[in-house]
Amino acid sequence: MVTYIEAATAPLKNTGAIRLYGPEDFAGMRKACQLTARCLDELVPMVKPGVTTDAIDRFVFEFGMDNGALPATLNYRGYTRSVCTSINHVVCHGIPNDKPLREGDIVNIDVTYVLDGWHGDSSRMYPVGEIKRAAERLLEVTYECLMRGIAAVRPGARTGAIGEAIQTYAEAERCSVVRDFCGHGVGRLFHDSPNILHYGRANEGPELKEGMIFTIEPMINLGRPHVKVLSDGWTAVTRDRSLTAQYEHAVGVTAAGCEIFTLSPGGFDRPGLPPLKG
Ligand code: MF3
Ligand code: CO
Ligand code: CO
Repeated sequence: MVTYIEAATAPLKNTGAIRLYGPEDFAGMRKACQLTARCLDELVPMVKPGVTTDAIDRFVFEFGMDNGALPATLNYRGYTRSVCTSINHVVCHGIPNDKPLREGDIVNIDVTYVLDGWHGDSSRMYPVGEIKRAAERLLEVTYECLMRGIAAVRPGARTGAIGEAIQTYAEAERCSVVRDFCGHGVGRLFHDSPNILHYGRANEGPELKEGMIFTIEPMINLGRPHVKVLSDGWTAVTRDRSLTAQYEHAVGVTAAGCEIFTLSPGGFDRPGLPPLKG
């Protein structure tokens, strides 16, 4: 049984009920998410061979400070950084370090700013210099998975419609969908109900309703779907060490479909890939 609850009056903890947000809440999310999107835009020219993920972490912290926002990951469940940087076979939650990025790497940069209490959660893939054709294809497939998931969002559909759209496309492209991590409700909480699975069937999961806000953040592998978490307790890698990619948007369900809160203001939704037509 799912319950839906007006966001304004609900307790600020994840009770399993799905919050429904109003126009003022949408405005708050728009602002937080656009700050995150601007940060991800600023990182485009910075991600080059030789730059360290520590430097990216510092930039994300400073950019937040300069704009009145705090990174949500800072001291979140023992995580001590402002950003996750996940390179090559790292699926998610990669911890910044002092190793320089190398030509041919692909890196996911995942930023969540808290601005006026709203969480703007988004990530993109960044190619480091020239990348191999297989890597470029994985980025294209993964971005398309995200956008097909988003296209399935409308009131009356179930969360499973998002998963089905993503899984169907990924597997048709001979890629696999990571099962161990999912999208999530987001708003005044970083991680809230509902879970948004990136696989499954359209008739599964709770019904989408106008006013829901959540992320879609598929992790897609060139090899098998299985992951393991390293001994640092965070870094998730593909078990077969195959290349993996992820893009993440935060969206709000509207009468017509959905609003993407984290769209790039500069048109850098897929850094390093050719612009989309239409
Ligand atoms: N931003 C990630 C997400 O998309 C969560 C990172 S939590 C951390 O949900 F602790 F690993 F930073
Ligand atoms: Co997220
Ligand atoms: Co994220």
